[in-house]
Amino acid sequence: MKNNFEFKNPTQLIFGKGTIAQLAKELPKNEKILVTYGGGSVKQNGVYEQVCHALKGFNYVEFWGIEPNPTVETLRKAIDLGKRENITYILAVGGGSVIDGTKLISSAIPYDGDAWELVLKPSKIGKMIPFASVITLPATGSEMNCGAVISNAEKQEKYAFYSSYPQFSILDPATTFSLPDFQIACGIADTFIHVLEQYLTVTEESALMDRWSEGIMQTLIELAPQIKTNKTNYEAMAEFMLCATMALNGFTAMGVTEDWATHLIGHEITALHGITHGQTLVIVILGTMKVMKEQKKEKILQFGARVFHISEGTEEQRMDKTIAACEQFFRSIGLATKLSELNIGKETITTIKERFIKRNTRLGERGNIDGNVTEEILIACL
Ligand code: NZQ
Ligand code: ZN
Repeated sequence: MKNNFEFKNPTQLIFGKGTIAQLAKELPKNEKILVTYGGGSVKQNGVYEQVCHALKGFNYVEFWGIEPNPTVETLRKAIDLGKRENITYILAVGGGSVIDGTKLISSAIPYDGDAWELVLKPSKIGKMIPFASVITLPATGSEMNCGAVISNAEKQEKYAFYSSYPQFSILDPATTFSLPDFQIACGIADTFIHVLEQYLTVTEESALMDRWSEGIMQTLIELAPQIKTNKTNYEAMAEFMLCATMALNGFTAMGVTEDWATHLIGHEITALHGITHGQTLVIVILGTMKVMKEQKKEKILQFGARVFHISEGTEEQRMDKTIAACEQFFRSIGLATKLSELNIGKETITTIKERFIKRNTRLGERGNIDGNVTEEILIACL
């Protein structure tokens, strides 16, 4: 371990079959609770029924309609409701979008100004309403981290901000059985790329973080075909769910250099075209690896050798084989790997480049991915 670091993660995980019932004992009594939901998948898969059953006797109101890539426009309605009802606790039930939206609601109920100000300037966040979650989609790690990503539909913008952690999160793998195949694929990709963004930087900072990250990626590669064959395989979905939580809760990031360029470029593609988060990442990471190959050389070689068992050829050939193996993995789970497959072309690339130049954006582990390098990366994704 070369670098000093501090680590704290206060979220209590409650994992396994039938655990939604534990809401009854984990939620604080005598609070006015806001229960937040997405578009209604919970009504089809029995999750809503289980939550209602556990909440018998609690004082609560519901807010419905937090959409994928939650918008500040929708969240303002929940914030108004929360203020009106004097809410003192929030329970998010759904995917990462519902939990992320809830993080903004929790920060904005006690705030007098507009919620978007908190996304742009999280230092303005003061008191927060405590919250917990029931997660139904393994992907974001939002159930055990303090990040949230909020969109502004009017401005076609999407930004991450950091607030606070859920007090507890319930993860029942059986809730994932109803997920569409595309969402599962995007969840696997998001998880895999969360690990990569914390791993694919420099070597020899921490043997343990490296092995831990490689372990999560290898587990995902093993699980993907099992899940494809049978998405109601409890054991496989349970492992996947834990991979997603462990990939972005700080446990693989202790004392290591992180990247996150792929995420921030991906967010722009979602903001402009509404493409699902995991799908954008799959495309962009391949471009990032190609364009940043020299800078990331040692780590790409280690990644290829340890995760895909690539040991033959020159360094250049091994790096190319590693990028190809990654692409093959993403294709095997059913995702597109090129912008052109989604009918996204040069116009979008120019818009993103200009946005980054205007914002003076500097991404990547060395802060050397600016608007121009982003353009190169996206051209490599065509
Ligand atoms: O809205 P409902 O009807 O619930 O349907 C959702 C939604 O349409 C559906 N779904 C969720 N659980 C289901 C289900 N359908 C059937 N069965 C279930 N069990 O899936 C759709 C997508 O849900 P969403 O919550 O949007 O997906 P995800 O969890 O992938 O979240 C994506 C958002 O999280 C952000 C992304 O940018 C994006 O906005 N991220 C958040 C992060 C964080 N908080 O740390 C990090 C990530 O990198 C990511 O950026
Ligand atoms: Zn992500």
